[in-house]
Amino acid sequence: MSYTKPTINRVDFAMMSKYGSPHKTQKVRSSIDGVDLHELTKEYGSPLFVFSQRDIEDKYRVLKDAFSSRYPNVQFGWSYKTNYLNAICSIFHNLGSCAEVVSEFEYQKARALGIEGKDIIFNGPYKPKEALRVAVEEGAKIHIDHLFEINDLEEIAKELGRTIPVAIRVNMDTGIYPQWSRFGFNYESGEAYDAIKRIHSGGLLKLTGLHSHIGTFMLEAKAYGMETAKLMQLKNRVEKEFGYEIEYIDIGGGFASKNRLKGVYQSPEVIVPTADDYAQAITDAIYSYSNGKPLPKLYLETGRHLIDEAGYLLTTVESFKRFPDAKKGYVLDAGVNLLYTSTWYDFNIELDRHYNGLNEASMLNGPLCMNIDIISEHIMLPPLDRGTILTISPVGAYNVTQSMQFIRYRPAVVLIDNEGKSHLIKEKENLETINQNEVIPEHIKIK
Ligand SMILES: Cc1ncc(COP(=O)(O)O)c(C=O)c1O
Repeated sequence: MSYTKPTINRVDFAMMSKYGSPHKTQKVRSSIDGVDLHELTKEYGSPLFVFSQRDIEDKYRVLKDAFSSRYPNVQFGWSYKTNYLNAICSIFHNLGSCAEVVSEFEYQKARALGIEGKDIIFNGPYKPKEALRVAVEEGAKIHIDHLFEINDLEEIAKELGRTIPVAIRVNMDTGIYPQWSRFGFNYESGEAYDAIKRIHSGGLLKLTGLHSHIGTFMLEAKAYGMETAKLMQLKNRVEKEFGYEIEYIDIGGGFASKNRLKGVYQSPEVIVPTADDYAQAITDAIYSYSNGKPLPKLYLETGRHLIDEAGYLLTTVESFKRFPDAKKGYVLDAGVNLLYTSTWYDFNIELDRHYNGLNEASMLNGPLCMNIDIISEHIMLPPLDRGTILTISPVGAYNVTQSMQFIRYRPAVVLIDNEGKSHLIKEKENLETINQNEVIPEHIKIK
């Protein structure tokens, strides 16, 4: 261990202080799925995102079983934005998921992976007309977000000389606030019904599905019961009034992961509903409102619940210092550039081995030259050495897709397969990656 200038800190030996016990057990993790962390960083560098194939597949099976044991016709759609690394999408597609995309870029990614148009759900508030045309031609499921899209699709239908099957996105009050009311058409105000009436009167589009996504990290299973009930009621009404046959309802994503929300006292184990809780609420509502008619196909676009806990970030302690208030501050090689979700989660942070010494209040900072680069403002840690590897989790959802090339290159991503073998699934970036799309006009080139 290297020398550090001594300081005097008050330590409450006998009992817990307001920050917890100085003797608190250290959380230690030396491997992921049997693969040693130091071996991983030696081979692929630090920081390093690591995904466990086994965790992904286990989570998927539990959720799939919860639904398919209650309902005969369920289809999962992998939410690309949650994590669109090709290897991760491939795992979900191999498990039977179709693709759920919200832009032409994500659509192209799914197609490049070999997913057929008919197995792509196309959501999102902005679908350029050209992207819509391709999606229509390839038979994708198009979920209309606003009236302009109805017009665009009608023009495409005229150009192609055929009717286009469509679904609309519906937003609604499910008792969760703030409501996600900026996407799609509102249920309570009658806007969703009016949009369907408008689609019907145009005669060029045919409504075959109803979609809603009520938000993300939903801790109330009953909100899904309400959402499903409203979609089913709308289905019954428009089938009766317009003679439509609604083949499917899509209840979106939003099931919570076992991450710990900042400011929430209870542990995720206590507050996060189980897969069975979500499935029961949704399927109960379908059966209650089926009116003896054929049951619609049920689509789910679950993202974070399926991938968050399968993702880890390994980061190395690069230095430490004492702040003027005597708090210890560690500088890590990963910060908010890689952990977008650190704004609202208190991650699980584990040490690579047991460290001697008393725990003391410490701060974990990232490598950015920015005051806001904080991974943990306050964590009880024993004295750590330079080179200590910390494992931060769960980080599988929304961090890889939202990580930034801000100040530092983005790191490699590794997948550990079911036999405990590691595979590189994304190379770390370098100067070439960053510069490849940049152009310097001739007249300002440095001579
Ligand atoms: C339309 C749609 N579907 C699915 C998802 C996935 O949500 P989650 O990752 O919370 O399950 C999102 C995310 O916001 C979304 O906007």
